[in-house]
Amino acid sequence: MDIGGGIGAIHHELLKDVARAATHVDASSAYLKEAKEEAVRRGHGDRVNFIHADFTDVAPELPKADLVTLDRVVCCYPDFRGLLKSAADHSKSAIALTYPRETWYMRFGLRVINFFQRLRKDPFRVFLHPVAEMDSLLKREGFERVSLRRLFVWEMALYKKSGGAE
Ligand SMILES: C[S@@+](CC[C@H](N)C(=O)[O-])C[C@H]1O[C@@H](n2cnc3c(N)ncnc32)[C@H](O)[C@@H]1O
Repeated sequence: MDIGGGIGAIHHELLKDVARAATHVDASSAYLKEAKEEAVRRGHGDRVNFIHADFTDVAPELPKADLVTLDRVVCCYPDFRGLLKSAADHSKSAIALTYPRETWYMRFGLRVINFFQRLRKDPFRVFLHPVAEMDSLLKREGFERVSLRRLFVWEMALYKKSGGAE
């Protein structure tokens, strides 16, 4: 289950050898159009279910998946609690997510982006959500963090269902 998969880089990669099928839910029709074309180009067209929606709206109708991914998605969505709770409800064994690091320069950078968004009268905003709160929410939902990697801008965390299979 690739939430906000963009052009679908993650599921295209996993479908090569690890995953049988994927569901890509995305709020952006422009991204989905590119992702569909790329899926066909790679021969994965019939293995990906594309859904154009806000994941939190359609989550109750969707089945669970082994792995749920949110790569650079929580930072585009104001209600990280609702999004992560729905993601956790849909994961049978693991959740992987990438989000901006909570550093002074990211705080500054995101403020600058939002300042220009306001000037352009574009309602889209980026968010630096509290990492500790995201972590405790996923822990409360029964997941444990098994990997954490940091780049300059992004932090990547992998959670596995506590007591789940390897
Ligand atoms: C910055 S892009 C990242 C795309 C891709 N995951 C990547 O890393 O290249 C954020 C994506 O998340 C999607 N998105 C944000 N919130 C969403 C939500 N609640 N439900 C579905 N898609 C969402 C946006 O439409 C967009 O495609």
